[in-house]
Amino acid sequence: MKSLIRAILIGVAVVIVLAGCGGRTAAAPEAAAIDVIVIGAGGAGMAAAVEAAEAGATVVLLEKMPMVGGNTMRATGGINAAGTSVQAGHGITDTPDLFYDDAFRGGREMNDPELLRILADESAGAVEWLIEHGADLSDVGRLGGHSVNRSHRPTGGAPVGATVVTTLQRAATARNVDIRLWNEVTDLIIEDGRVVGVEVTVRDGSTEQIRAGAVIIAAGGFGANNDMVARYDEDLRGFGTTNHPGADGAIIGLVAERANAALLHMEQIQTHPTVVPADGTMVTEAVRGNGAILVSRTGRRFANELGTRDVVSDATLAQPEGTAFLLFDHSVRESLRAIENYIRQGIVIQGDSLEALAGEAGINATVLAQTVATYNQAVAAGTDAEFGRSDMPRSLNEGAFYAVEVGPGVHHTMGGIRINPSTQVLNGSGAPIPGLYAAGEVTGGIHGANRLGGNALADLIVFGRIAGREAAAFAAAK
Ligand code: FAD
Ligand code: FUM
Repeated sequence: MKSLIRAILIGVAVVIVLAGCGGRTAAAPEAAAIDVIVIGAGGAGMAAAVEAAEAGATVVLLEKMPMVGGNTMRATGGINAAGTSVQAGHGITDTPDLFYDDAFRGGREMNDPELLRILADESAGAVEWLIEHGADLSDVGRLGGHSVNRSHRPTGGAPVGATVVTTLQRAATARNVDIRLWNEVTDLIIEDGRVVGVEVTVRDGSTEQIRAGAVIIAAGGFGANNDMVARYDEDLRGFGTTNHPGADGAIIGLVAERANAALLHMEQIQTHPTVVPADGTMVTEAVRGNGAILVSRTGRRFANELGTRDVVSDATLAQPEGTAFLLFDHSVRESLRAIENYIRQGIVIQGDSLEALAGEAGINATVLAQTVATYNQAVAAGTDAEFGRSDMPRSLNEGAFYAVEVGPGVHHTMGGIRINPSTQVLNGSGAPIPGLYAAGEVTGGIHGANRLGGNALADLIVFGRIAGREAAAFAAAK
């Protein structure tokens, strides 16, 4: 009898360990009914999972990679919000209306107005919610296209992604969300027009069906799939990317085909202007926000460095060799901890003087000296007569000086699955598909033709939370 009990206990323990590692075998029976399945353990998926669990749902979070985080883990410059307690502490006046106007202008007025209104109105709540759950978002800077400082990030300007991901992962684990790694969703189970579960392919290549009351798609964008990118924008064929390898967009084709989900703005694909061509490292826009300028090999500035990404990317591609140098001094370095990562990676060229830096980088030294002198005069005068840059937080006169050679890389896919304000996925006729929700970069329409820096993380938290709440309520009502 004792050995039978021991065998049963060992069996239960093995099932628990395998489930926790994502090593489930084919057709393993589900121990308990699942209310909500979330596809993708990036920021949107984890926010949805936490919110659904807080609403009382039993949640399974499926992630195809061996770790959580997706592109969210790579986020650096900040999460935008208007009207937070953190902004108030820094003496910054901001409103959701101003946020809306900046994002609408930046998106070339192609943004879905209803979704953008929700993003702007709920952004402060999203940042406060992350802080309540333990995130450090005490620093506030500015990214391109914004009228005020609203990009929240950790103390000293450290990269934002790690604090968001660790905070959400901890919150999900504390709420008993069942996180299964190496679980790739490869099909949807649809019965009588309603989505009732998914099929996953697990680590050993076997497949398994998992049923639930509702399914949330939070699988991210397709920036890492250059064939798919080029299908929608041939000009981007062969471009490098800032994205993690899991951003392949396979799920977008799947839901369009299997559930007749509507897609929109698929051709709206953003390049980030300051990406190191050799290895795809993105140098955060926050470096420019904290004072860096862009110069060509000839030593001249050529754009308002805090213009929107589409404009700055095009201006960079028009320079000799299609690249530029991001140039800053020691005071900029001291203002932003994220820069230390780039120094450690060895992508930053250094010189004790501007002349020495120009020699190291192969920039025309005489022209560069004149360019920096003119820029410093503009900072002192508070007016950039050449390029109309409005935010120039510091002059560049404190050695050492630094430069990074950069050019545009594929960064964000603004198009994706069409949703309504409740995050229900809509079909080709505009009707909600019962049981199916989506949030994050996998959706389309919120950012129009061009997403402003810092608005993706706001989008993930705002719409991830809505998806979690709505899916939990739908599952409970069935
Ligand atoms: P992700 O975080 O990418 O998560 C999606 C997850 O789904 C991934 O883990 C993926 O592996 C998984 N998945 C995909 N398909 C499947 C499947 N079939 N089955 C199971 N799992 C699947 N935005 C900002 O607002 N501020 C920033 O500072 C910022 N910096 C950035 C820096 C970099 C280098 C990059 C690449 C992006 C940055 N962005 C930033 C953009 C932002 O990070 C992304 O838009 C955002 O993280 C996407 O979040 P998500 O949850 O939708 O997707
Ligand atoms: O430059 C950056 O830090 C990127 C920000 C973003 O994509 O929002």
